[in-house]
Amino acid sequence: KNDPLVLFMPSGKRGRFPVGTPVLDAARSLGVYVESVCGGRGICGRCQVEVQEGRFAKHGITSSNEHISELGPKETRYAEKRDLKEGRRLSCSATVLGDLVIDVPQDTAVNAQIVRKDSDGRVIERNAAIHMCYVEVEEPDMHKPLGDLDRLKAALAAQWGLAEIDVDFHILPQVQSILRKGEWQVTAAIHRDEEHERPRMIALYPGLKNEAYGIACDIGSTTIAMHLSSLLSGRTVASAGASNPQIRFGEDLMSRVSYVMMNPDGREAMTNAVREALNGLIDRVCAEGGVSREDILDAVFVGNPIMHHLFLGIDPTELGGAPFALAISGAVSLAAHEIGLSMNRGTRVYVLPCIAGHVGADAAAATLTEGPHRQDEMMLLVDIGTNAEIVLGNRKRTVAASSPTGPAFEGAEISSGQRAAPGAIERVRIDPVTLEPRFRVIGIEPWSDEPGFAEGAAAIGVTGICGSGIIEVIAEMFLAGIISEDGVVDGSLAARSPRILQTGRTFSYLLHEGEQRIAITQNDVRAIQLAKAALYAGVKLLMDKQGIHHVDRIGLAGAFGTFIDPKYAMVLGLIPDCDLAKVKAVGNAAGTGARMCLLNRGHRREIEETVRKIEKIETALESKFQEHFVYAMAMPNKVDAFPKLAE
Ligand code: FES
Repeated sequence: KNDPLVLFMPSGKRGRFPVGTPVLDAARSLGVYVESVCGGRGICGRCQVEVQEGRFAKHGITSSNEHISELGPKETRYAEKRDLKEGRRLSCSATVLGDLVIDVPQDTAVNAQIVRKDSDGRVIERNAAIHMCYVEVEEPDMHKPLGDLDRLKAALAAQWGLAEIDVDFHILPQVQSILRKGEWQVTAAIHRDEEHERPRMIALYPGLKNEAYGIACDIGSTTIAMHLSSLLSGRTVASAGASNPQIRFGEDLMSRVSYVMMNPDGREAMTNAVREALNGLIDRVCAEGGVSREDILDAVFVGNPIMHHLFLGIDPTELGGAPFALAISGAVSLAAHEIGLSMNRGTRVYVLPCIAGHVGADAAAATLTEGPHRQDEMMLLVDIGTNAEIVLGNRKRTVAASSPTGPAFEGAEISSGQRAAPGAIERVRIDPVTLEPRFRVIGIEPWSDEPGFAEGAAAIGVTGICGSGIIEVIAEMFLAGIISEDGVVDGSLAARSPRILQTGRTFSYLLHEGEQRIAITQNDVRAIQLAKAALYAGVKLLMDKQGIHHVDRIGLAGAFGTFIDPKYAMVLGLIPDCDLAKVKAVGNAAGTGARMCLLNRGHRREIEETVRKIEKIETALESKFQEHFVYAMAMPNKVDAFPKLAE
């Protein structure tokens, strides 16, 4: 009862421990993850913590440096040899003397010069699937004819409690030379993803190997993004991105599936292309981070179902039509060399589960990051591509669906549509009185009516309009009265403005006349109406399932979500009414989810369980979908009100 109270930050876990308990043991017993490579010998420095001094009234603790043992011999030795920063202690050596608040630094890298925060500043508590275990092995003895590997195993059992382990075969031919090179001191990389799983030795290094890395990768149909992180400190040391080379087989997902269906070696060609690109990216992150690819021991991948299948070498044909059967929906675990990724021979790969045939591991990763299942608020997560992946839920219940929005939002099917690239119109405003437009173009800083625009336009040319530009121009046309609620371009305005052009029986709005004439046609408006109606109908269906009329928060994932202005998305009724302050772009949510799974295997279990619980709704089977779709063709909607827009 009167034992000292120890509180660990940032997790907030706490417990009482008898005087003399090593801080590392206290952390372990509370499930606070503190790294240790040398097993408490005071040589790796991975177990560093900091004592926070002061009164922590909220917790009823007064913490002070007097409440921890003085620098012991192990720490003194370590501090002499290496740099033990002011205030840092080796938790394997320091013991509890009184009430303590202990900070577990998120970066315990030995020689870390700069603490580099992850791109989104998120702190991911570490509990990697890979452990580096330093051991001292008994030398061979003629009286005890036990093999070198067997003595290594015995050492791991005695010094790390790893009684039953499997050993990757590729280690066996090297085990004798590594043991001798390290003079009977070696570090084994042990992989254990699930607690009940037998640990497996996947790599072996001579001496103390005080570092191990992992990669987290989001395979998008357009772009592949990769991060290289230290598994021991959690730091992201390098990031790189590349276009998905499968684009040459088909721009969008469905055309890639058709390519597989039409070409006997199509699947193999696309699998090879993506794996080659991944190997190229591994080279790049390794060069940037100054890391050998041999030191990458774990890798996590996410992607939409078709990317997921092609990456794993699975034919995606079944995903091309109903009932959209996945070859596997659960998480996949394998060795990297089995799928042609060259890192260490023992490197492990973990692929997140897919939610459904149209809602992939990328949506699962975004769900993990944004955590609708961890909160009370009802959150809508939307990833817009050729298919919109939609997740709606809170702590109590989560539902998911996909909706066939088609490629209009990406600029396809739009007469002047193009990819978001220099020369594309991305922002548009229309004066409601004169109907004159102002716009901004990617690659040209000023707006079209500001000085400098003309020069920029002459230099790169205005070539088309991208997805975010299309959303804005149509929303602005609606707000200026150029199109009606039903999306019809009002031809009577032609008398008032030369920008209203007649083409056959319909009218267009002339946005820009340069080398290229960029006009928004009646067909363009229709294509966007169809796409947005499909998206909204899918969202509405999920809201029906949840029995709600209102969502608390919206996260827009993917590139489209990053560039689109939420206000315009709501003006068009693409997304349901919501407090605009609570609509945000969660661009890299899928990549962050992959990193969470890389650094903490607990997150793997969390998302596996969450995905199992998510109720999958098949929009094609729901009779209400058509009804919602018809209402959603209107702007913003025939039946649903958007009170937040008026505010
Ligand atoms: Fe290696 Fe403490 S565990 S120094």
